[in-house]
Amino acid sequence: MGCTIGVDVGGTKIAAGVVDADGRIVDRIRRPTPAASGPAITDAVCTAVEELVARSGGDVEAVGVGIAGFVDDGRSTVVFAPNLALRGEPLRDRIVRRTGLPAVVENDANAAAWGEARFGAGRGTRHLVCVTLGTGIGGGVVLDGRLYRGGSGVAAEIGHLRVVPDGRRCGCGNQGCWEQYASGRALVAEARDLARGAPAEAELLLKLAGGDPDRIEGPEITRAALEGDPAARECFRTVGRWVGQGLADLAAVLDPERFVVGGGVSDAGDILLEPVRRSFARHVTGRAVRSLADIRGAELGAAAGIVGAADLARV
Ligand code: BGC
Ligand code: NA
Ligand code: ZN
Repeated sequence: MGCTIGVDVGGTKIAAGVVDADGRIVDRIRRPTPAASGPAITDAVCTAVEELVARSGGDVEAVGVGIAGFVDDGRSTVVFAPNLALRGEPLRDRIVRRTGLPAVVENDANAAAWGEARFGAGRGTRHLVCVTLGTGIGGGVVLDGRLYRGGSGVAAEIGHLRVVPDGRRCGCGNQGCWEQYASGRALVAEARDLARGAPAEAELLLKLAGGDPDRIEGPEITRAALEGDPAARECFRTVGRWVGQGLADLAAVLDPERFVVGGGVSDAGDILLEPVRRSFARHVTGRAVRSLADIRGAELGAAAGIVGAADLARV
């Protein structure tokens, strides 16, 4: 088989690539996600696909899209997206009509999990849970080597585990969801808070953000933490504790062999993963007697969604 196109549609950017059967990206492009509603996002996805097809010289056989939302059972319609302006968007049919290529639509974190399972940090496992820490928290569950989609297509919405009764309000309409405490957005909120409340302790963070706490974003926090900044490290410890605690709950239900942690927040590597592992080991049920799941960073990084979506378009 030739190549397929994988598209990863997130809260801020649309990344698309032409991917070969071995999971290698041979061409790629990136666009900002339009802030306007459904049709504008669909249009941007189609345009990206058309551009890649034109550049590929006709070698593309199908399109897979991973999108940050709830996708129906038929892998076709985006039912709802907590962090995107999309409701009931018939994305697959629109792509098929415009590009003439067969297409599937999948949840973004499912696609990334599939990419990691086939070609990345999940290789060699049968039971894998992949957690993507970005704007929200995404989840992908691979059981017995197959992507688990649940009864209506929306399994593994782990970002909306309610970890704090009556806690912070979430984009999904509930309160106290895990992604309000352990995502990239939560990390940024933590750092801004610290910089406002204790500017003397957050000197480097503030310096990297031009002195303005509101301009602190994920990359600044990661950079400061890698340079050893205690305030940034503290933010990762806080978020890491929340992540580990959530993984412990997931282990109670699914008992995977391995967790793969991806998304922008995981760029900090062990600075994030060490507190995650500690918190997981402290909270998981049966910790004295069970074998602890291995917790690893993602290997494919930002490419996981593209590679996974492209591979899912083959089956
Ligand atoms: C959405 C998921 C998505 C995740 C990561 C969550 O808020 O509910 O569908 O996978 O964010 O983008
Ligand atoms: Na998912
Ligand atoms: Zn929620």
